[in-house]
Amino acid sequence: MTKNIAVIRGDGIGPEIVEQAVKVLDRIGELYGHTFDYAETDMGGCAIDKWGDPLPEEMLHRCLNSDSVLLGAVGGERWNHVPGSMRPEKGLLKLRAAMGVYSNNRPAKIWPQLADASPLKKSIVDQGIDFIIVRELIGGIYFGEHRTEVTDGVETAVDILTYSENEIERIGRIGFETALKRNKKLCSVEKSNVLDSSRLWKKVMTRLSEEYPEVELSHMFVDNCAMQIVKDPSQFDVIVTENMFGDILSDEASMITGSIGMIPSSSLGAETCGLYEPIHGSAPDIAGKDMANPVGTILAAAMMLRFSFDMAKEADAIEQAVSDYLDAGYRTADIMSEGMKLVGCKECGTLITSYLTK
Ligand code: IPM
Ligand code: MG
Repeated sequence: MTKNIAVIRGDGIGPEIVEQAVKVLDRIGELYGHTFDYAETDMGGCAIDKWGDPLPEEMLHRCLNSDSVLLGAVGGERWNHVPGSMRPEKGLLKLRAAMGVYSNNRPAKIWPQLADASPLKKSIVDQGIDFIIVRELIGGIYFGEHRTEVTDGVETAVDILTYSENEIERIGRIGFETALKRNKKLCSVEKSNVLDSSRLWKKVMTRLSEEYPEVELSHMFVDNCAMQIVKDPSQFDVIVTENMFGDILSDEASMITGSIGMIPSSSLGAETCGLYEPIHGSAPDIAGKDMANPVGTILAAAMMLRFSFDMAKEADAIEQAVSDYLDAGYRTADIMSEGMKLVGCKECGTLITSYLTK
């Protein structure tokens, strides 16, 4: 099979982690007889520097015309001075919206080899950590009106949070469908004690649950959920939540698995063309130092093969290679522990590539 992948290396550690994922994809291509063509695409701070726009139209079209998009990370302090509407992150938000990828899937699963890297007590980790956050990605406060104004010398900023029942229903369905394929437990997370949008969220989820009688639906306030994730993560199977709550909870969930550097994510909408990225940011402090953990991006590439290209065997092979690499005792700095072998970003990619088999 030939697939055309739009590759966004982005900013900070983005280029070095994407390079490793491309290395892995190329080897998969050799082993399984596929051709992956890469369309290099500028987005984020580097696009601002080069084109004065975090996602120029031509770059957006490159993504929309691809079979899927692989992204490293965008952003960094260097672009903090640019106006809100032109920030590197705006490029990413514009891409997500233009691709219509409303459903962001972020797994929080502990690798047994990394149980020691979790900041949680062993007794909690031993209960098991294996859940998925289904985050609504193209609505809510991220996409509402943003404005800053000065009245009588006082500056006021406004960000509007809106959700329609249709937007809630389509992501709700993904939550239920995801739970059906797993342990059939869905926790809908909102703040319905305070927000109208959350009350609507809860109402729609409750209504939808009638169509999914096999799934056990529970409701939880987001503040309580943040606490429960560290207190007893084993209680969760699938969490479905709105955009900003999902952003915050997914960082928390990734950390308890040992490292944010290990977690991939997929973003899908109605099309099979998806957006695949690690959930971490561009980490400018370690950029170019060959210290970053490319595993999140490598696993994002595996998700691309599984969800957009129908290449489950190939995706399994990548996940197995990551597991073999961890079994062999290799660790990047973020998950390094005593007695393990410290490797850089590049060596990590080379090792995982070498463990790939058919
Ligand atoms: C994420 C990131 C983005 C988000 C930023 C970079 C816009 O934090 O993918 O979680 O908030 O969605
Ligand atoms: Mg985030």
